[in-house]
Amino acid sequence: MMKRIPEPFRIKMVENIRMTSREEREQALIEAGYNPFLLPSDVVFIDLLTDSGTGAMSDRQWAGLMLGDEAYAGSRNYYHLCDKVKELIGYRFTIPTHQGRGAEQILFPALIACKKAAKPVFISNFHFDTTAAHVELNGAKAINVVTPKAFDTRTYYDWKGNFDLDQLKTTIAEHGADNVVAIITTVTCNSTGGQPISIANMKAVYEIAKQHNIPVVIDSARFCENAWFIKQREKGYENKSVKEIVKEMYDYGDMLTMSAKKDPIVNIGGLCCFRDDEDLFNEVRIRCVPMEGFVTYGGLAGRDMEAMAIGLEEGMNEDYLHYRIAQVEYLGERLREAGIPIQYPTGGHAVFVDAKRLLPHIPCEQFPAHALNNELYLEAGIRGVEIGSLLLGRDPETGKQKESPMELLRLTIPRRVYTNDHMDYVADTFIQIKERAKAIKGLEFTYEPPVLRHFVARLKPTE
Ligand code: F0G
Repeated sequence: MMKRIPEPFRIKMVENIRMTSREEREQALIEAGYNPFLLPSDVVFIDLLTDSGTGAMSDRQWAGLMLGDEAYAGSRNYYHLCDKVKELIGYRFTIPTHQGRGAEQILFPALIACKKAAKPVFISNFHFDTTAAHVELNGAKAINVVTPKAFDTRTYYDWKGNFDLDQLKTTIAEHGADNVVAIITTVTCNSTGGQPISIANMKAVYEIAKQHNIPVVIDSARFCENAWFIKQREKGYENKSVKEIVKEMYDYGDMLTMSAKKDPIVNIGGLCCFRDDEDLFNEVRIRCVPMEGFVTYGGLAGRDMEAMAIGLEEGMNEDYLHYRIAQVEYLGERLREAGIPIQYPTGGHAVFVDAKRLLPHIPCEQFPAHALNNELYLEAGIRGVEIGSLLLGRDPETGKQKESPMELLRLTIPRRVYTNDHMDYVADTFIQIKERAKAIKGLEFTYEPPVLRHFVARLKPTE
């Protein structure tokens, strides 16, 4: 059995969680329309919906909150944040935003305006949902060119977040470099399972981009976890520090968007930063004012910026990263040992259970991963999230349900929140469910919203 790495922190304050009865959960799920997104969190025992904004801040971050300078303009915490970005990432210009999508909403229209393309497209290893949404809301197309190895959950591959470089080149040629507004390198690649991208791949992508004069945006939500994987897996990086690796990663980008709710372990916050393009920085800053807030706070309180400045550095701590990635791997290995199919190897922030293989009797239009999520909740009060056909939605032209290449249940692990014992509890629950997997039923809609339906849809089990 895999070794458990002890939590490298002491617990100073606790938040009690309550175990509900089976009857209570059955009632709660009916009231939520069989959609765990609609459950009040009070009736959830272990919440693995997301690792976003759900982490536990440290004593230093909480102390930082007390140092908030709430001046409307020129808060000292803003300057501290800018200094940390320069020191740790090496980018000169920083705009704080309320979260990752805040950065996307002010950056993408500015990039599109600069490019003046006839048919604008963005290319990424994989656009996160909100990233694709902001591309599309601005009239551009979002194209994913991740390695096909990412879709084979059974076979080990170190870099399931890598770009398929041939496909990247072909896509640029097909659309014409003048139409490619930007390449977005997502570290780690959330959509394929928090899977890392290698430095070699980031470098190759950057070189291709430069040949065609295309800017590279690094979507940075989980940049520390990506750097940790590089240190573990990439030849020549084993003796480099995570700090050094992070610096090098950002050499292969021109700007970044960041959801600081992940690796920098804050409950709210984001960043939009530029290596040296001052004109673009100024252009984006102007958009920040009406959308996010004045340029030195971008939708955040001074205290939030202080916690983020501290968290940027804490997220890179190697003892913490060792434990963090090992905890996720431990849960993954316990499931694998019990014969439960998962995206293998596990990634940085979550274990992705392959519901297509666990529940082959449920067709994609009855949402196997969502059905599994409901079963997990009923069994033990655990909430994950579906990443499959329910999330994907219908073809806008034909109205037909699209079939997702993978039907995954994401068990997302918040940072510094749950112990390894909690992971055992989750694994033990899965083992019980596996025994009666055949009896789990699919779902059908009772209410299907026209857009972003998975958040508020209501469903019922099929007859
Ligand atoms: N990019 C990536 C790769 C993300 O995973 C997310 C958020 C965002 C951008 C947007 O950031 O939420 O701060 O506005 N992912 C969360 C998740 C919501 O659950 O995976 P945000």
